[in-house]
Amino acid sequence: MRIVLGVGGGIAAYKVASLLRLFTEAGHDVTVIPTEAATRFVGVATWEALSGHPVSNSVFDEVHTVNHVRLGHEAELIVVAPATADLLARAATGQANDLLSNTLLMAGGCPVLMAPAMHTEMWQHPATQANVETLRSRGITVLEPASGRLTGSDSGPGRLPEPEAIFEAALALAGAPPVPATAPLPASDAVLSSAPGPLAGLTVTVSAGGTREPLDPVRFLGNRSSGKQGVALAAAARDAGAKVRLLAAHMDVPPPSGVNVVNVETALELRKAALHAAADSDVIIMAAAVADFRPADVSGTKIKKRDDVADPVISLVRNPDILRELVETRDAASRRQLIVGFAAETGDADGDVLDYAAAKLRRKACDLLVVNHVGQDKVFGEDTNSVVILSRAGSEPQEASGSKSDVAAAVIDRISAELSRVVPPA
Ligand SMILES: Cc1cc2nc3c(=O)[nH]c(=O)nc-3n(C[C@H](O)[C@H](O)[C@H](O)COP(=O)(O)O)c2cc1C
Repeated sequence: MRIVLGVGGGIAAYKVASLLRLFTEAGHDVTVIPTEAATRFVGVATWEALSGHPVSNSVFDEVHTVNHVRLGHEAELIVVAPATADLLARAATGQANDLLSNTLLMAGGCPVLMAPAMHTEMWQHPATQANVETLRSRGITVLEPASGRLTGSDSGPGRLPEPEAIFEAALALAGAPPVPATAPLPASDAVLSSAPGPLAGLTVTVSAGGTREPLDPVRFLGNRSSGKQGVALAAAARDAGAKVRLLAAHMDVPPPSGVNVVNVETALELRKAALHAAADSDVIIMAAAVADFRPADVSGTKIKKRDDVADPVISLVRNPDILRELVETRDAASRRQLIVGFAAETGDADGDVLDYAAAKLRRKACDLLVVNHVGQDKVFGEDTNSVVILSRAGSEPQEASGSKSDVAAAVIDRISAELSRVVPPA
């Protein structure tokens, strides 16, 4: 498919290089049109090298081809990311003062998707909202921005959705066959056939265990997760009739029979496997203990203890928030999917465990959050557990305790109930 990728002058322009890669690796022919401001964030050389096409932002380059007319006519899909407040305004008012805005005016019949990104104040400003309204009324798909950390220390709605989410939404808009955002999983990942039960016919992906973040070839940063709760959830989902895929980080227990296992080591590997698995999952249960941070540098050789140099200092960088990305990807693709998160919380003088858990549920925007009260029960490695299940739909918190199998059965029952509330049985 011939795609025009317009890039606006926002800080999130760098993320669009990954979006471009997703399009080209899926076999699409992409012409990038950055605005003048966008080239201050990411240079023309990056767009030319990654797209394999010359890049311009002026109607006066290559005038003999009348670029904006040709691009507007030939495009089968136009994606604008990040769509700045300025670009939304220019598109809504039909301005034609650079190559991208001219091309947008020339694009008669092809689908157009705009992915805004800006500070919350700019996004919520009545002028921007009116422009979005106008564009939507003309049939342009304007994605909702994601919520979270913005350029400075502030956070709120205004983040560019993750490249995978924009990729999926754009292809869905263009009616292209769904192409996984990551390389296809091996054939052995095909989920197994299932038994009758409340989840019969559904595909459930469960993550379990603790990720390990390498420091050098022999050392890693890990956590105490045994994988027992995730394994019990996978078994309970299987017994409820689901086809189950288990994304297994490090576990002290074997995976259950009758589920397909995708082994992962690090948070980044788990992220890739989870985003891929999301494409065909009706339910995703993220029970793995995912490292929040990983070492900034991984040594290719064992870090040596030496008397002549100072002891090493380990710097950490933040891992992506997989749960939030899954929610963003689902919402951007308007996919029907139930997403369940797990959280370990403690209370303090400012709030009890449920207050903190409710705030986390709002932040993550998953459908159910299963909360362990840390410090009250030892959770890691034990055979028993005690949790509270919170629902975004606002129903009463539900307590469950007993063996990890008992807790898993309660969570799966709750998932079945949530699904039947959304989609009544035929
Ligand atoms: C560091 C920096 C970050 C910016 N980030 C954004 C942004 O995320 N969204 C936005 O709408 N404008 C942002 N701006 C402002 C735009 O660059 C400015 O409105 C520009 O005129 C947009 O031009 P364009 O729409 O032609 O790309 C940013 C400016 C700077 C200097």
